[in-house]
Amino acid sequence: MPVVGRILRISGPLVVAEGMKGAQMYEMVEVGEERLVGEINRISGDLAFIQVYESTTGLKPGEPVYGTGAPLSIELGPGLLQSILDGIGRPLSVIREESKSPFIKRGIKVPTLPRDKKWAFEPNKEIRPGDKVGPGDVLGYVQETPLIRHAIMVPPDVSGVLEWVASEGDYTVEESIAVVKTGDGEKRELRLMHKWPVRKPRPVASKFDPVLPLITGMRVLDTFFPMAKGGTGAIPGPFGSGKTVTLHSLAKWSDARVIVYIGCGERGNEMTEALLRYPKYTDPWSGRPLMERTILIANTSNMPVAAREASIYTGVTIAEYYRDMGYDVLLVADSTSRWAEALREIAGRLEEMPAEEGFPSYLASRLAEFYSRAGRARVPGRPERVGSVTIVGAVSPPGGDFTEPVTSNTKRYIRVFWALDARLAYSRHYPAINWIISYSAYVDLVAKWWAENVDPRWKEYRDEAYKILLREDELKEIVRLVGTEGLSEKDKLILEVARLLKEGFLQQNAYDPVDAFASPQKQWRQLRAIIDFYREATRVVDEGVPVKFIREKLGLLLRELVMARYKVPNDRVEEIDKLRDKILEELARLAQEYKSRVHAV
Ligand SMILES: Nc1ncnc2c1ncn2[C@@H]1O[C@H](COP(=O)(O)OP(=O)(O)OP(=O)(O)O)[C@@H](O)[C@H]1O
Ligand SMILES: [Mg+2]
Repeated sequence: MPVVGRILRISGPLVVAEGMKGAQMYEMVEVGEERLVGEINRISGDLAFIQVYESTTGLKPGEPVYGTGAPLSIELGPGLLQSILDGIGRPLSVIREESKSPFIKRGIKVPTLPRDKKWAFEPNKEIRPGDKVGPGDVLGYVQETPLIRHAIMVPPDVSGVLEWVASEGDYTVEESIAVVKTGDGEKRELRLMHKWPVRKPRPVASKFDPVLPLITGMRVLDTFFPMAKGGTGAIPGPFGSGKTVTLHSLAKWSDARVIVYIGCGERGNEMTEALLRYPKYTDPWSGRPLMERTILIANTSNMPVAAREASIYTGVTIAEYYRDMGYDVLLVADSTSRWAEALREIAGRLEEMPAEEGFPSYLASRLAEFYSRAGRARVPGRPERVGSVTIVGAVSPPGGDFTEPVTSNTKRYIRVFWALDARLAYSRHYPAINWIISYSAYVDLVAKWWAENVDPRWKEYRDEAYKILLREDELKEIVRLVGTEGLSEKDKLILEVARLLKEGFLQQNAYDPVDAFASPQKQWRQLRAIIDFYREATRVVDEGVPVKFIREKLGLLLRELVMARYKVPNDRVEEIDKLRDKILEELARLAQEYKSRVHAV
């Protein structure tokens, strides 16, 4: 029997209730006459500390608190895609209609999935009544949107003998579509939807190493700091440095099939401009609305902080659910700093001993829990499927200081660090990713994919280009002190090639139709052209030809190489090879010219 207690005191989003003996940690409760949604996050004797997901104004001591006996859960089933949900999974558009105002009215019970909508269910012919079924077995399919076919799976906690499965037809999420007789003789009715507790990872059969790159089309990422399918990454950056633009590009262009986008509004009661813009995007691959393969979770700042705290668990649970169907899912959170602030505020109300900068001591373990839900795995059930959840979180360190607690703790659990730099953004070098302090632990893991699918020399060329960039960074200091004249010819060449790399490769305009996405082939050919020029030029310089002479004679062709990012679309990449050949020929010719000139004098 679920517990019924009484409110003892109220402090912002936190309610303390007495008479709660028997209640469970993380149990969902209904608070007050209006039955506001809450979750127990500490128990002490018969007191329960409850974080409430709705505004607590007007709530009074003495009002009842009802236990539900169940943890905070989310509904999983067709109808998730295209929706905009709050932190605990209530669709915003529905909330608005029912409460007739843009604000969420309290105590409204709105289900995540529409109840009246019928979905065309197509049974899986491979699984028949009489068969033994278990977690993840696909009973049938629903075409959820034109872009995504939704697998209707046996939930992770059900197994037994399939007694009956519905025939092809239209069903709501609540109608029974199958009956499973479980081991203890109980008959479980299955529906198109089931519930899952958000703080509990959904099980997988076996995890794989993250060896497949998540192709983003952004050269600085794919070539220098690659993300892997099932990997984890952070994008820290100061105010206005391009975190949101980068996350939107990933959502639009990366080769993940399903996107879960968790956004945090900053100002007043409004959704940020970025959150409003997202639903207008077109999926570049299909020409259809990007929302047809997206779930948006919006935390506006008028929503209670507790809902924001829950939102990343809601988001990652939805991501795991689509992974279970066999999709590559990308989850982005913009920004985890806003989430950590919610955690801090709740901890403050609980009067917990603060650790660094007021954040609770469990900030690190919460971040670990979140990022550890990423991965690429074989998922349970028939037919065999492999899916992945990739997690990328923006971090907004106050004042751009990467040593602050959220950034430094995040670094412990992520493998890719895409550091945005205010100076680069200020000088309009976009994406403003600082190539000196960024890193990826996946370079060696994804190198095999590049070798097999693009070119065996990928790693060698990538490393050579990276070394040139590192060397340029050292030289910059010398140049600042003594100017370029003090440099050797070889170092001058490094500066020249680093410039080609920066302008022609690292920089990328997210708003240009050709430049926005560079295919792996295009990236490779651009990289090869620049590095082959470097190798040949090094030889020529060794023979005594000055870098200045090369720059003057080859200026126009090199300019063309830089502009290739705008001029050469992904389906005409051979043009980059032709340009490269021309540059190398010209280089050989002008070396001859220089030598004969020197001989003449
Ligand atoms: N890749 C890019 N290509 C072109 N312009 C860019 C790019 N990245 C960022 N910008 C420019 O920088 C501006 C700010 O970017 P963005 O809103 O993503 O910053 P942010 O880091 O999310 O800021 P905040 O801290 O306010 O959330 C954009 O409006 C855009 O003009
Ligand atoms: Mg932003």
